[in-house]
Amino acid sequence: MSRQILIAGNWKMNTRKADAVALAKGVVAGVGKNPSVEVALCPPSVYLDAIADVVAGSPVELGAQNVYAAADGAFTGEVNPSMLTDVGCRFVILGHSERRAIMGETDKQVSEKLHAALAGNLVPIVCVGETLEDREAGNTEKVVETQLRGSLEGLDEARAAGVVIAYEPVWAIGTGKTASPEQAEEVHAFIRKLLAELFSDDVAGQMRIQYGGSVKPNNAKELLGQPNIDGALVGGASLKVEDFMGIINPA
Ligand code: G3P
Repeated sequence: MSRQILIAGNWKMNTRKADAVALAKGVVAGVGKNPSVEVALCPPSVYLDAIADVVAGSPVELGAQNVYAAADGAFTGEVNPSMLTDVGCRFVILGHSERRAIMGETDKQVSEKLHAALAGNLVPIVCVGETLEDREAGNTEKVVETQLRGSLEGLDEARAAGVVIAYEPVWAIGTGKTASPEQAEEVHAFIRKLLAELFSDDVAGQMRIQYGGSVKPNNAKELLGQPNIDGALVGGASLKVEDFMGIINPA
């Protein structure tokens, strides 16, 4: 089953408006009119509106880095799904390891965000991944399975096909220590098998599983060539047009 590759740039808490707009303009120019892959930019939420103006009319899509699972109301500082779609978001990253580790986000909170995002017509990108300690203790699959089951709690087969999973080994994020294609593919294949058990072979075959963790122009082609890797969630390399384009169009 062919799945369209999704390359998303997670800018995290970086840029200011002027360079965010310049970065987005550079990506739009680089991607052109008919990219061979799906491309999305996920800026800080304060710049979503400005970046929406830049990508409007181009194939480049917009995503958010988080969302709060509630309708309008007394939730100071938060942003809900309808606000994200209001400014043109198609994707929303959920359960990033930084939010799990720093903000204490739980699988339950991620699943609540997942259902709110789907109800709000957003495409969720649900992040899972083990720490170095987990891996060295031989617990990679156990950790990833627990996170996946918890984060996808209550998701039905009908909606599952539209959910993107991002496997991001925590030890590879921002470290330059990318998982080898074999290491990444092993976990992606495990995730695919688990999705088939949770939903069906057909749905699992439709779901896209991105890899994230030090994806760069010099490793993108080999990673994206793996049978169960359907794209990349890119941090640092998405902050430079040349590097991000080198992942979108790997030499
Ligand atoms: O969400 C993607 C991010 O966690 C990966 O970061 O800098 O290792 O590409 P980086």
